[in-house]
Amino acid sequence: MQDSFRCLLARAAQTHCLTKEEIALLLSAHGEEEQALFAAADTVRAQWVGDDVHLRGLIEFSNYCRNDCLYCGLRRSNRKVRRYRMEPEEILAAARAGVDLGYRTIVLQSGDDPWYTSALLARVVEEIKKLGVAVTLSIGERKKSEYRDLKLAGADRFLLKQETADPKLYALLHPGQSYRHRIQCLEWLAELGYQVGSGNIVGLPGQSLDILAEDILFLQAHAVDMAGIGPFIPHPDTPLGTCPPGDVALTLRVLAVTRLLLPWAHLPATTALATLDKDGREKGLRAGANVIMPDLTPLVYHAAYEIYPGKGAPLPADYHQAVRQLVVKLGRQVGTGLGHSLKPSSLSAQPVSGPPAQ
Ligand code: 5AD
Repeated sequence: MQDSFRCLLARAAQTHCLTKEEIALLLSAHGEEEQALFAAADTVRAQWVGDDVHLRGLIEFSNYCRNDCLYCGLRRSNRKVRRYRMEPEEILAAARAGVDLGYRTIVLQSGDDPWYTSALLARVVEEIKKLGVAVTLSIGERKKSEYRDLKLAGADRFLLKQETADPKLYALLHPGQSYRHRIQCLEWLAELGYQVGSGNIVGLPGQSLDILAEDILFLQAHAVDMAGIGPFIPHPDTPLGTCPPGDVALTLRVLAVTRLLLPWAHLPATTALATLDKDGREKGLRAGANVIMPDLTPLVYHAAYEIYPGKGAPLPADYHQAVRQLVVKLGRQVGTGLGHSLKPSSLSAQPVSGPPAQ
């Protein structure tokens, strides 16, 4: 390994501050250097967020979407999707089943579906909060007043991925949407007191290492509490259906560098990673991740929530148990608390440096 690489990695692990060029260099690491990057991320993960792996139970309650993102199987132009909306009672039943399985966070995710008013969702959130768990919403762009109503109803966290921090690529991939408005939504969510998650897709056509470095700097500048980083998986019924998939190793390097630069963050080993590589979850957990988001969507709907091929594949009978076994196999433990944000309260939305919070 080159001395210069070793030094760069040590500085990243200590100061959590790098330039765009330095990030791009780490993202192109191979062989021994790549392994050293993963090891450094794993060490920073252990120091800052410990050995707990937090499990978040995901309920995909609607696959209707008003958007037309070029990469997503649920885009509104895809007429092949069997669309569904879960009734509030069905969502609550799925949440209760998740709580019975031991989940301490329930994530409510859907396409960008205005059919669910904030008033309706607020009632669902209030009911789930009575179960004593944390609630994360992942429902896309809404008015600030709606985000406020949902926060007042008890929602703790919100996931809204920037998908790509390159405004030009964002515009190409998201017809009819605005990059600036997405950032505006993220800023509202933070102002309203949500723990905020964002994140990107790795391997999108037209993406460069520089753009991926921008993604990581974006997450750092916004001091997000969580970041979801997954590989692009082409869906045949989308305009990007014939593009090559994202590279698993590059996705792991993006995850690892994100851990170095946002040491406090909750980072999932994503389902997309596990879809492209049968050991994807394990590799993610060894390269900086500390969260897994298993699926709790009722079987009748699960197959229709096909963001990318494989997403709706049947789950093995021992699925929930297998996730826990993986955590233990890696010498870690499943978090028993609510798994709230570990971001030091001193951090505003600025690039950071400084010692770990104990
Ligand atoms: N490949 C990988 N990830 C995708 N997503 C949507 N479509 C794809 C795809 N084809 C991701 C987006 C979205 C999340 C729910 O799924 O990042 O935010």
